[in-house]
Amino acid sequence: MSVEFWDERFAANEYIYGKSPNSYFKSKLDKLNSGKILLPAEGEGRNAVYAAINGWDVYCFDQSISAMEKAEILASENMVNINYLIADADEVYYKHDFDVVAFIFSHFPNHNTLRKISNFTKENGHVIFECFSKKQIKYQLEFNSGGPNNIDLLFSLNDVGKIFRDFEILELSEVEVNLNEGNYHNGPASVIRFNGVKK
Ligand SMILES: C[S@@+](CC[C@H](N)C(=O)[O-])C[C@H]1O[C@@H](n2cnc3c(N)ncnc32)[C@H](O)[C@@H]1O
Repeated sequence: MSVEFWDERFAANEYIYGKSPNSYFKSKLDKLNSGKILLPAEGEGRNAVYAAINGWDVYCFDQSISAMEKAEILASENMVNINYLIADADEVYYKHDFDVVAFIFSHFPNHNTLRKISNFTKENGHVIFECFSKKQIKYQLEFNSGGPNNIDLLFSLNDVGKIFRDFEILELSEVEVNLNEGNYHNGPASVIRFNGVKK
């Protein structure tokens, strides 16, 4: 989906995915000691701000300027700092020194993009991933619960295992969840979850 699509969607006054962090992200982050974290395609900042409140040194990026503006407002409401870059996922480059890279609904056309970004972790760094599975197409028809309707932007277990082949798997699962993240991620949905440690 285009930058214009996202800028228009984020132009709404309300936080369209809410101000609370994604629950899988929170459950995994809460078990780790704070360090340096990267959040690709971070949107309006709900996960970045949660991490910053909990002592993480937060870096994130997104292609949408209106998303960044809302993320910066959320950060200042919570009196924390986040390092937010406007960039396309294909073009970003960071040092390979992150303790965590967390992909939360980061759907990019090219799976190599996710592999590249996951490798900005350092040795023993973690990946946390929750994105819609290919089964979400059926859930969209029945429940309109969100996500891209282009099957190529969705993930299978096999896709995710391949993308994160540089990581020891702590969890790789396809689960039905009941989303309650603002107006656009709402209701029964199918997601893939991955948690791993850099080999
Ligand atoms: C469903 S939103 C998720 C936002 C955030 N991760 C969250 O969970 O609240 C998807 C985000 O991906 C961003 N995005 C999509 N393709 C991108 C790309 N190629 N480079 C950077 N950001 C991208 C969009 O601008 C949008 O903010």
